[in-house]
Amino acid sequence: MTTQALLTELYDTPEDIMIKKIQALKDELASKVLILGHHYQREEVFQFADVSGDSLKLSQQAADADAENIIFCGVHFMAETADILTSDKQAVFLPDLAAGCSMADMANDVQVNQCWQELSTVLDAEASVTPVTYINSTAALKSFCGEHGGIVCTSSNAQKVLTWSWAQKEKILFFPDQHLGENTALAMGVPESEMIIWDPNLPLGGNSQQAIEHARLILWKGFCSVHQLFKAEHATTMRKNHADIEILAHPECSREVCENADFVGSTEAIIKYVDAAKEGQKFAIATELNLVNRLRMLYPEKPIWFLSPMVCMCSTMFRTDLQHLYAALLAIQERDASHQIIVPKVHKVWAKVSLERMLNLA
Ligand code: 13P
Ligand code: SF4
Repeated sequence: MTTQALLTELYDTPEDIMIKKIQALKDELASKVLILGHHYQREEVFQFADVSGDSLKLSQQAADADAENIIFCGVHFMAETADILTSDKQAVFLPDLAAGCSMADMANDVQVNQCWQELSTVLDAEASVTPVTYINSTAALKSFCGEHGGIVCTSSNAQKVLTWSWAQKEKILFFPDQHLGENTALAMGVPESEMIIWDPNLPLGGNSQQAIEHARLILWKGFCSVHQLFKAEHATTMRKNHADIEILAHPECSREVCENADFVGSTEAIIKYVDAAKEGQKFAIATELNLVNRLRMLYPEKPIWFLSPMVCMCSTMFRTDLQHLYAALLAIQERDASHQIIVPKVHKVWAKVSLERMLNLA
């Protein structure tokens, strides 16, 4: 049966039956399969995760896993990362192959190579620039970083990675998320005057030769379509309406939102912050809806609001549903590679180098 025919049949199956089917198949496969679930996954899928976490924790788990098969309930770059970090004997599956990341799509290897060449017309890029890619990027970009003395970062370890990168070379080229790079550097005390934005659609990224020579941090003009929906005025309204509320924000939010927040951190850091707070503490949180709703459920004694009045939900994370999870489990049972993510060797070698540089910093 084709995946499409199977999914059509599964969409006619009631949710309680789907849950039983998944549990039965998962039990049958037992230690042959490990399910990793990112915090932004919807609840019905998230309950099946053997390990849940943010991008850093899940990539560490993938690197340490010895299960023959790993199902990554997350998005494409996460499954690619797991495939790079696991052995050739292990297979990584993404339940819905269309679960991408709009931010990761904002920088491709052609554009980054072009940027490197343009930078090389102004300075000796190889000698003076460390390329840093956010983990939300393709394997090709991780490979680019590995090959050019660079590294990967996540929202949990960005400060540590920037410190390492500046210790290697005088400048950093940071892609694809402008905001994570900017917010992290500002928190480290780097003045705005030492940062420039690189717009891949403009010659020299839209900068003068002099600005490039002066800059210590070159920020790719990319963003997360979900986190960009949070605005500073949402924080102002929350504070006006709720005394003593604390605002928590993910560093993919804009600078204005992060500057108005009491705490800025990765998904895992936000969870820990809420967990450690005293009973009755009120929060407004600027990150993806599924995580905020889960926190509401887990901590009913700590009133939690969603910072934006709009629904900020990652539609690609949402693609993984019970039906796709079941289809991935079935593919493993039937030794069918249709849900498998295989990073081409040409990218795997150097991508692994840049990921291991990051993991070794931990
Ligand atoms: P975390 O590293 O906090 O899990 O974030 C990943 C992500 O895609 C956020 O949009
Ligand atoms: Fe990508 Fe944003 Fe979705 Fe995270 S929330 S996976 S950065 S689109």
